[in-house]
Amino acid sequence: MGLLEKQLCLVSLVLFVTLFSSTINVTSTSVKEANALITWKATLQSTNHSLLTSWVLPPHDNISTSAGPCSWFGVSCNFDGSVNRLNLTNSSLNGTLDNFTFSSFPNLAYIDLSMNNLFGVIPPLIGSLSKLIYLDLSINQFSGNIPPEIGLLTNLDTLHLVENQLNGSIPQEIGQLKSLTELALYTNSLSGPIPASLGNLRNLVHLYLYDNDLSGPIPPAMGNLVNLVELYMDSNNFTGLIPSTLGNLTKLTALHLFNNYLSGSIPQEIGKLKSLQDLSFETNNLNGSIPTSFGDLSSVTLLHLWNNQLSGSIPKELGNLKFLNDLELSENQLNGPIPASLGKLSMLETLFLRSNQLSGPIPHELGNLKNLLILEMDNNQFSGNLPELCQGGKLTNFTVNHNHLIGTIPQSLKNCSSLARARFDENQFIGNISEDLGAYPNLVYMDLS
Ligand SMILES: *[C@@H]1O[C@H](CO)[C@@H](O)[C@H](O)[C@H]1NC(C)=O
Ligand SMILES: *[C@@H]1O[C@H](CO)[C@@H](O)[C@H](O)[C@H]1NC(C)=O
Ligand SMILES: *[C@@H]1O[C@H](CO)[C@@H](O)[C@H](O)[C@H]1NC(C)=O
Ligand SMILES: *[C@@H]1O[C@H](CO)[C@@H](O)[C@H](O)[C@H]1NC(C)=O
Ligand SMILES: *[C@@H]1O[C@H](CO)[C@@H](O)[C@H](O)[C@H]1NC(C)=O
Ligand SMILES: *[C@@H]1O[C@H](CO)[C@@H](O)[C@H](O)[C@H]1NC(C)=O
Ligand SMILES: *[C@@H]1O[C@H](CO)[C@@H](O)[C@H](O)[C@H]1NC(C)=O
Ligand SMILES: *[C@@H]1O[C@H](CO)[C@@H](O)[C@H](O)[C@H]1NC(C)=O
Ligand SMILES: *[C@@H]1O[C@H](CO)[C@@H](O)[C@H](O)[C@H]1NC(C)=O
Ligand SMILES: *[C@@H]1O[C@H](CO)[C@@H](O)[C@H](O)[C@H]1NC(C)=O
Ligand SMILES: *[C@@H]1O[C@H](CO)[C@@H](O)[C@H](O)[C@H]1NC(C)=O
Ligand SMILES: *[C@@H]1O[C@H](CO)[C@@H](O)[C@H](O)[C@H]1NC(C)=O
Repeated sequence: MGLLEKQLCLVSLVLFVTLFSSTINVTSTSVKEANALITWKATLQSTNHSLLTSWVLPPHDNISTSAGPCSWFGVSCNFDGSVNRLNLTNSSLNGTLDNFTFSSFPNLAYIDLSMNNLFGVIPPLIGSLSKLIYLDLSINQFSGNIPPEIGLLTNLDTLHLVENQLNGSIPQEIGQLKSLTELALYTNSLSGPIPASLGNLRNLVHLYLYDNDLSGPIPPAMGNLVNLVELYMDSNNFTGLIPSTLGNLTKLTALHLFNNYLSGSIPQEIGKLKSLQDLSFETNNLNGSIPTSFGDLSSVTLLHLWNNQLSGSIPKELGNLKFLNDLELSENQLNGPIPASLGKLSMLETLFLRSNQLSGPIPHELGNLKNLLILEMDNNQFSGNLPELCQGGKLTNFTVNHNHLIGTIPQSLKNCSSLARARFDENQFIGNISEDLGAYPNLVYMDLS
């Protein structure tokens, strides 16, 4: 044999050995994976058998020639035949993960077991799935704690555990998941404080913690999550101040803090959120005045501050919010007049100002709100005549009861042909509009007492 032939021979030998050993490797991996899936399937208390019929082991000798688990329902493999995706969403699975041997799946990167009847705990061994990118266990009956071992899944991009019965606190180890872009834990029974380590998750785009029993303050470190687009923390038991650092989250389009026990005044830095479309702070204990900087929320369409203890006057700067569609300030202690600038809010459909201490005449500029559908101004101290408010003709609900209004109800009200519900009672109106009632074909309720 010449040198060249010797070298070629060696090369092919190396190649052969490499291919052979990788085949052996693949085979033993997929046998292990197939066995692990079969073992788990056997523990499920009920399954939709028409879905998992494909989950059967071929005769042992034959697994290398069969597609193995790679052809099974809901199972996908990577190029060398190892399971990398398990998607059994909405598959009528009833059972636990107790006997799912996570360690048998070295390449598993995507798990979607959402919308089943899985119960029991999330096993701490789930932390052995070092390649895991996507984990969705939502809409099941998992209970107990989120295991701290979840912090080992450092490749996770998406973690969805919503609509289960998880309790205990959010483990601080979650702050190790540096790749997370989406963290959804809503509608569980999670309690305790938000770990400050959450502020390490700088890649987070969507953070949904709403509808739990979380308490304590909102950590100022959350202002580090500068890529956040949606932050939903509503319907928990959060207390303390709204951190001014939230004003650094300039990509936010939605900020939901409603239904908590937040107190103190609203930081003026919130006005820096130029992308914000939806600001919902209602039903807290917020006091002080509405920051004038809110006039800089140039993208806002929905502004809900109702049911707090806000005082002072409505800033005239709110008239700059040209996309505002829904402004709800009811049930506070706001005083002073309605700024005429609100008449510039040409997209406004809903204006709720009821149950405050607002006073002075109702500005006739509100008549410019041609898209207004609902206007509630009852239970204030408005005085003077009622201006013509129905020039757009779209108003369906209109309440000004319990004020100090005088004079006649203007003729233009006849223009409110869509009016369904109106309350004028508890004022000092004079005259009789009952002969005009024919103008309101949709009227369901009108109180003129
Ligand atoms: C899971 O395996 C354990 C033994 O490791 C066994 O005791 C238990 O009954 C199994 N669970 C189910 C649901 O089969
Ligand atoms: C079982 O799965 C099949 C196929 O998806 C579906 O048509 C059937 O409705 C399911 N049955 C139950 C009880 O969920
Ligand atoms: C292996 O598979 C082939 C074709 O699928 C089948 O004919 C054969 O009986 C199998 N061998 C064993 C030992 O089951
Ligand atoms: C799982 O399958 C469903 C429906 O086929 C699909 O909508 C979902 O995106 C899949 N999830 C993953 C992680 O592949
Ligand atoms: C879940 O599966 C059932 C039956 O197969 C089907 O009717 C239903 O639309 C599915 N739900 C979702 C959200 O995919
Ligand atoms: C799940 O299985 C348990 C035990 O067999 C049974 O009690 C329960 O009703 C099942 N749940 C559903 C939703 O099928
Ligand atoms: C969580 O729920 C389990 C029952 O599922 C209970 O045993 C445990 O005490 C609860 N833990 C907390 C912190 O509420
Ligand atoms: C949260 O607040 C509600 C209502 O005040 C209360 O019933 C509940 O016990 C509180 N939960 C925690 C964990 O503090
Ligand atoms: C974040 O906000 C705080 C308070 O508003 C401010 O002092 C700080 O400089 C901001 N940090 C960054 C990085 O913008
Ligand atoms: C707001 O409430 C806090 C107590 O939560 C109080 O110390 C502060 O004086 C109040 N501020 C205003 C303007 O009412
Ligand atoms: C009545 O509404 C129409 C548009 O529907 C408007 O052109 C007109 O000016 C209104 N009249 C009064 C008195 O508001
Ligand atoms: C508007 O009035 C109708 C008719 O009375 C009523 O059913 C509806 O709940 C009202 N909407 C609001 C937002 O008050």
